[in-house]
Amino acid sequence: MGREQVGVYHILGGRRLCGTVKIQGSKNAVLPMIAAAVLTKEEVVLSGCPRISDVEDMAEIVRSLGGTVWWEEKDLHLNCAEIEKSHVEGALSKRLRASLLFLGSLLARTGEACLAKAGGCRIGKRPTDLHQKAMEVLGAEIFEEAGTIFARADHPKGTVLCFPKKSVGATENAILFAVGAEGVTRLCHCAREPEVVHLCRFLRAMGADITGEGTEQITISGTYGKTALSGCRYEVPGDRIAAGTYLLMGAATRGHLTLLNAPLDEMGAVLSLYQKIGGQYTRKSGTLVADSKKVQDAVPCVETAEYPGFPTDLQSLYLAAAMTLKGESCICENVFEDRLRTAEELQKMGGTLRICGKWIYTEKSRLHGADVVSRDLRGGAALVSAALLAEGFSVVRKTELIERGYERFPETLRELGAKIIVEKEV
Ligand code: EPZ
Repeated sequence: MGREQVGVYHILGGRRLCGTVKIQGSKNAVLPMIAAAVLTKEEVVLSGCPRISDVEDMAEIVRSLGGTVWWEEKDLHLNCAEIEKSHVEGALSKRLRASLLFLGSLLARTGEACLAKAGGCRIGKRPTDLHQKAMEVLGAEIFEEAGTIFARADHPKGTVLCFPKKSVGATENAILFAVGAEGVTRLCHCAREPEVVHLCRFLRAMGADITGEGTEQITISGTYGKTALSGCRYEVPGDRIAAGTYLLMGAATRGHLTLLNAPLDEMGAVLSLYQKIGGQYTRKSGTLVADSKKVQDAVPCVETAEYPGFPTDLQSLYLAAAMTLKGESCICENVFEDRLRTAEELQKMGGTLRICGKWIYTEKSRLHGADVVSRDLRGGAALVSAALLAEGFSVVRKTELIERGYERFPETLRELGAKIIVEKEV
């Protein structure tokens, strides 16, 4: 879908989701890998890459820098032999938050980076201070003017960096920069999210020397003056948030779903919550069979937290399911300060919801169809979930936000029994 298009879904409610879904490759794992592709002059192939607009936007940035990017079926090929620029145009960087990851990789590749402050979902202030500070500690000169970040690093040398606060993106950016430095960099108080782990594994496949991913301390031995990173073919892991999304949509509609390629080892918090509300599942390697017919009881309080806690990206999807549960549910959003706006749209559908700062309370509600607007990617998916269980027709607007992160979303839901008509306006 082109950026100038806006999308609308028309949904008939009262449907259970039943059937099999093959979980897409992980959005948040693959976006940093695309930024990392500029670190090598050789070809990188990302197998099983999700075909979503965030990936297309990152690919567009690589092209704008002088790289070549093309699809072969489900594989995304990137060739960054020629990187002519270190300036990401504002119109491109503003499309998505992950564009900020070119700060680290461009600094490592060209010694310079210039990019307008990134856009992305409006779920809070989303400052970039941790990213900028990390680049500075790692040896870059950095300043900001009129919303654009300028950075330069002639000869970065390994050092010790302790993040004052955990951040997935800032950890990834620091790793991307440090792989090009001279000597050893030790990063402390790092994010432990699986996406950071996947980036490290990917960089290792390119020849980088990294240890400690998945813990709070990551050590990188940089390539400066040594053998350059090589190309590689890498299998993009399954998307834990997409898998959690379908699981919770199944719970909301009391469906029966088989999820293939789900990264179950990364889904502990959501699987445990699913069981607490009455969901039953069996798992075997990457396959999850989830039966939601006994989903019934509210859980008094669920708080979002960094990994391995309950992910903020599934908060609104759980909220949609919580409106079908017996008793009061309380959800606390601890990661982003403005990620409860979907609740206002759910109220239009008859949801009984009360927001109190970062807390939201809900109870069993009789939902009816309504005309609602996606506020962010995951919130949009939550509205679709609510529309599927509501009585009557709903219209969900701004679905281009949903399609930033979910591959073949309406098609997949249709295959599971949903009645959805897609309208696109240019
Ligand atoms: C990543 O965002 C994900 N995005 C988000 O997924 C996810 O919600 C988030 O991590 C938390 O898990 C991508 O991977 C592309 P953070 P990121 O830096 O890296 C504050 C989705 O729906 N902070 O870990 O931007 C920040 O405001 C998306 O797929 C600073 O204060 O998240 C937040 O409160 C949305 N200063 C907290 O840290 C900074 O410089 C954690 O954010 C950076 C962040």
